[in-house]
Amino acid sequence: MDNNAILAKSVSRKYGSLLALDKVSLSAEKGKVTALLGPNGAGKTTLIKTMTTLLVPDKGEIFVDGIDVLKNPDKVRSHFGLAGQFAAIDEYLTGRESLEMVGRLYDLSIKEAKNRAKEVLEKLGLTSAANRQAKTYSGGMRRRLDLGASLVAYPKVLFLDEPTTGLDPRTRFQLWDIIRDLVKSGTTILLTTQYLDEADALADKIYVIDKGKMIAEGTSEQLKKSLGKDVVEVKLQTNQISKAKNLISGQFKSRVEVDELTRRMRIRTVKGGDDLLKVANILKDARIKPEEIGLHRPTLDDVFLAITDEKAGKK
Ligand SMILES: Nc1ncnc2c1ncn2[C@@H]1O[C@H](COP(=O)(O)OP(=O)(O)OP(=O)(O)O)[C@@H](O)[C@H]1O
Ligand SMILES: [Mg+2]
Repeated sequence: MDNNAILAKSVSRKYGSLLALDKVSLSAEKGKVTALLGPNGAGKTTLIKTMTTLLVPDKGEIFVDGIDVLKNPDKVRSHFGLAGQFAAIDEYLTGRESLEMVGRLYDLSIKEAKNRAKEVLEKLGLTSAANRQAKTYSGGMRRRLDLGASLVAYPKVLFLDEPTTGLDPRTRFQLWDIIRDLVKSGTTILLTTQYLDEADALADKIYVIDKGKMIAEGTSEQLKKSLGKDVVEVKLQTNQISKAKNLISGQFKSRVEVDELTRRMRIRTVKGGDDLLKVANILKDARIKPEEIGLHRPTLDDVFLAITDEKAGKK
């Protein structure tokens, strides 16, 4: 187990004929944040469930805090906290009552449970709402309360399944701060996310999962470096997008991605500046005037698009 608080080795799990996890391995170093990044349906929740005794894998080995999860599911449960993807709080209890109840479930005395609930409510900025029923809480407050429930028993290892999905930017940043504080106090965190910026901002190590397979791992910097070259980004008028895409794809093949919503086209370059000029000339010849054009270092988005492309067989 050495320095790892979580270790999964070659974990596979089927749902009927669907292979939701295909020989997935992951390790999360003690006292660090590890992010599991992947799109909808990639297998993130399935993997978290196997690690937290909610689902038994068909094959593989899993250790949490040094304990064999498959052999000792009862024992390991007191060694981690879990905040699932969908908040699991009782609507009719107040925030304070919910946390006190969790404390009692973890065998704290009434007094300890009250103290711990108070502490956690403060940590999560919920003190002023502590005596209100959870059904009056906003989405962000529910997520925080749910996270709070996972903290009551002072877990050394914390699993957070999409902790910030659906939250407004301010609430997301507040949660990031809470996560950073927990790590400072020595907690190991494995979080799943669909947001590259979140993995980039929080994680010491990132695993990328897609269609049940682990397709990349490394620090954010390593993943970006693995892509090598810079990216040309062009912002276009809506009515120019498809024409520009056709012309540029002719030269750059599948290294072109278009986000219709932001009207941005990104082209992974082979030659940096030369490719910027090439793109500019193609657009000029076609009398397409972009709103913006520039060259930038690859972001984690570019890495993600590149590796998912490669695995899909496009080059
Ligand atoms: N109980 C189930 N029965 C059958 N198929 C399931 C079940 N749970 C998940 N799946 C399938 O397994 C795959 C992985 O699902 P999973 O929930 O792990 O994805 P995810 O990465 O957590 O996605 P999201 O970002 O949407 O939460 C999906 O194709 C999903 O439809
Ligand atoms: Mg999920």
